[in-house]
Amino acid sequence: MKTESGAQTAPFSGRKQSLIEDARRERAGSSPAGSPGPAGPAGASRCGDGFVFEEQAGRAALTVLFGLSSEKHAGFFKTGKIFETFEAKLLHIESRPGRKSKNSSSDLEFLMKCEVHRSDLDVFVNSLRRVVDDVRLVPEEKVPWFPRQMKDLDRCNMLITKFDPDMDQDHPGYSDPEYRKRRAFISELAFSYKQGDPLPTVDYTAEEVSTWREVYRQLRGVYPGLACRQFLDGLQQLEDECGYGDERIPQLREVSAFLRERTGFQLRPVAGLLSARDFLNSLGFRVFQCTQYIRHASAPMHSPEPDCCHELLGHIPMLADRQFAQFSQEIGLASLGASDEDVEKLSTLYWFTVEFGLCKQNGAVKAYGAGLLSSYGELVYALSNEPEYKPFDPEQTAMQPYQDQTYQPVYFVSESFEDAKTKLRRYSATIKRPFAVRYDPFTCSVEVLDQPGKIQNSLSQMREELKILHGALEKLSSS
Ligand SMILES: [Fe+2]
Repeated sequence: MKTESGAQTAPFSGRKQSLIEDARRERAGSSPAGSPGPAGPAGASRCGDGFVFEEQAGRAALTVLFGLSSEKHAGFFKTGKIFETFEAKLLHIESRPGRKSKNSSSDLEFLMKCEVHRSDLDVFVNSLRRVVDDVRLVPEEKVPWFPRQMKDLDRCNMLITKFDPDMDQDHPGYSDPEYRKRRAFISELAFSYKQGDPLPTVDYTAEEVSTWREVYRQLRGVYPGLACRQFLDGLQQLEDECGYGDERIPQLREVSAFLRERTGFQLRPVAGLLSARDFLNSLGFRVFQCTQYIRHASAPMHSPEPDCCHELLGHIPMLADRQFAQFSQEIGLASLGASDEDVEKLSTLYWFTVEFGLCKQNGAVKAYGAGLLSSYGELVYALSNEPEYKPFDPEQTAMQPYQDQTYQPVYFVSESFEDAKTKLRRYSATIKRPFAVRYDPFTCSVEVLDQPGKIQNSLSQMREELKILHGALEKLSSS
């Protein structure tokens, strides 16, 4: 729905962080066919057929399928000679009656998993093709590493330096050595943090508090008319119980304790913009990676990267809502072990919901996205008559081009959080993974449901929980 223009809107004042672009960069960083190298994913390479193989110390692992007709059984022994010539290491071998010819009782098919020098790969495969029939390479199904336990989040720390004040000449703090020094100090707190450590505290300077105050006062003034009910409720609780206000910058330690009591979410410090995969993976554990530094004092209304104003004002009040917390975790769980392509789509969904989402409430459209709720200019713009609104539909939203150089040209409106969560869950089921995952809140770990026994255990646990609910319903109906 395109609405009519009319409202006066604040100008856009710079770029914003983009998980989507980070995900694209990670994909673009993958090795192109035939050119494995340090820019590619760890341990991956390709041969001319376009199959991806694991590689270790210059050796590629591959699975080869080939046939031998009854007349060419001697070819099997020739394959042994080829293995010897190329110093190929045989890891696994299977045989079965051939399926392709009428003489299947005498024809055979072989499946061999082997390891060969990467540089010999193409010649090795071509040599096999000369002595046996129908050589095919069976692509390995590779699953990207993902955290299984909370302590694994210590490895989810790949930073994107795109908007770093040390690297980006357009960053407001680039030409301010004192600001960069301060950033380095706060970054070090995050670098040295390990899961389970007490969250570090920062003794904010008067200038930093002044920047916070300016942002807080301006945004606080427009929240009642533009923010969704859940955000306003969360912010009110934070002001009443967690020291939120314009006089001081809340510490991560107290905010994390507040969230844990309400939704089980917790914070961990991060030194800057994280890779999309690492950030989303952390959400699967109800862990929000949270920056602790503040934007440069010269640009209080804009930050090209996430900072504590964006996190504490934009994200935290929403994470205090149970449904929204569940919604955030489900995006995170869907990202575990997902392909780079699917992580990019999930990043886009995250962008148009958690960062720039709108929802209907009492007949009006309200903001729930943190990118909006921490940016006065875009918050006012998004709820004016200018931008186009579309209903939230994960399939379409995941393909929507986004904008990080100016305001979004289109915003997606959810009927409710419950509606968004239901649709997202349906979308997540379409992500191709050779396994399902389930978060175990008792051990704070992710269980991979790849064996019948594990699924059976989960079902038993659910049955017990259903019994509790059934008992509660019976008590209600008999009272
Ligand atoms: Fe954010």
